[in-house]
Amino acid sequence: MANETKKILLSGIQPSGRPHIGNYFGMMKQMVDYQKDHQMYLMIADYHAMKSVQDAKSMKDNIIGVLLDFLAIGIDPKKVTIFKQSDVSEHTELAWIFDTITTMPYLMRAHAFKDAEAKNKEIDVGTFNYPMLMSADILIYDADIVPVGQDQKQHIEIAMIVKDVAIVPGTDGQKMSKSYGNTIPLFAEYEEIKKCVMSIVTDSSGGIPKNVYAIHNLLRPASELLPLYESKAGKYKELKDLLVEDLEKFIAPMRERRKKLEKSIPKVVKILKEGGLKAKKTASKKMIEIKKKVGVSVYEK
Ligand code: ADP
Ligand code: TRP
Repeated sequence: MANETKKILLSGIQPSGRPHIGNYFGMMKQMVDYQKDHQMYLMIADYHAMKSVQDAKSMKDNIIGVLLDFLAIGIDPKKVTIFKQSDVSEHTELAWIFDTITTMPYLMRAHAFKDAEAKNKEIDVGTFNYPMLMSADILIYDADIVPVGQDQKQHIEIAMIVKDVAIVPGTDGQKMSKSYGNTIPLFAEYEEIKKCVMSIVTDSSGGIPKNVYAIHNLLRPASELLPLYESKAGKYKELKDLLVEDLEKFIAPMRERRKKLEKSIPKVVKILKEGGLKAKKTASKKMIEIKKKVGVSVYEK
């Protein structure tokens, strides 16, 4: 398919630490699938992440970390423009224009603000304005599709949500999340996988351990898994051992690819820089158009 006829897809990821298998099945894997037949932008939302990452060293490590993560799972920089938000200053420039045409009461209805208010927290201006920057991220590339999880739904009324992905459960049966300490890290070493799996909460009914099964089901279809779990009903340790082996099989190739990439950071960083230049070319063209529309563009050439 020629590039021009492909739909434009954009997604943003905050560089905020180690990803887990919930992030992978909920979002990262879809990105790899979409790259085949979309004109795709994958943005590391570093300016967004400044709301929570306020230490320069962590920010830098996280940016490089997320870049390695995506390359290791199979994002191909020849197909995808992978870049960081702060390399394309047009995003923040357009966000300012949006600020001037959006009212405070409208933004006060956004859930990030309402959550902070409910917790009696004094919200920072960046968090309050976050939907403006996010709109700019999307609209500056004329994105047709913005695949994000349920939690981001409110922020992207303009674009299409491709599909509602299933929520991946954590080791305690709740939603897997960094903030709940119930994750299985995507690039975990064997011993760490084992430790996480052994910590999966089971009940004492002696039947099918539902939390073990739910995670296992990400890797194998029910048609294979159900007979296995039924034949081993009550044998929690054996089932957990099987899950450890399946997780290792699934994680090991990506983990090894990531380790290889870690050995050539300068080359990897160059990919990000080139992606930024490419994105900027598109964004700056759009910004010229916008400046004309709002009337601040007064020079002939
Ligand atoms: P976390 O809750 O661990 O902090 P984030 O909020 O950073 O995760 O989410 C990053 C992306 O991964 C989002 O697109 C989100 O919808 C997706 N995601 C996070 N946790 C899960 C989960 N348990 N199941 C499915 N998708 C998830
Ligand atoms: N706000 C998103 C999150 O927290 C990240 C993000 C920033 C984004 N800009 C975006 C996602 C544009 C999609 C499109 O996960």
